[in-house]
Amino acid sequence: MKTALVLNGPNLNLLGTREPAVYGAQTLADVETLCRQACATQGFGLDFRQSNHEGVLVDWIQEAGRAYAAGTLAGVVFNAGAYTHTSVALHDAIKGSGVPVIELHISNVHAREPFRHHSYLSPAARGVILGFGVAGYALAITALAGVTA
Ligand code: DQA
Repeated sequence: MKTALVLNGPNLNLLGTREPAVYGAQTLADVETLCRQACATQGFGLDFRQSNHEGVLVDWIQEAGRAYAAGTLAGVVFNAGAYTHTSVALHDAIKGSGVPVIELHISNVHAREPFRHHSYLSPAARGVILGFGVAGYALAITALAGVTA
């Protein structure tokens, strides 16, 4: 059984209390449960993580590249939070690791402030899902099942 790695970046540990009008009322633990159900449907195991630290996220993408090369990982669903809009290091990590990444955003970033309209991840990602609330995580896991090398 292959694993799907779901990575969450800064401030996503605050889901449930953080700007509920934008991000909804569900907590990160609720999102993990939702992902576990979506992974069970697709026949994936789930590895679900969150970090507020850019370098930790870089390390996890590199680790994912090794697991993908070894054939144990289907790919990554990545909500990089605000690092989406700032991080050349995460762009380089995705490109350098070769692991398929589905970029994910809970909110429709294009309907928000202009500084959220640019993503350093999108050019390196296999695809992007945004604006569907936390249900987007399940959509992204379904998309991973269709990703081929
Ligand atoms: C986000 C959108 C980002 O702009 C923001 O910084 C986040 C969450 C989303 O899921 O909608 O932290 O990635």
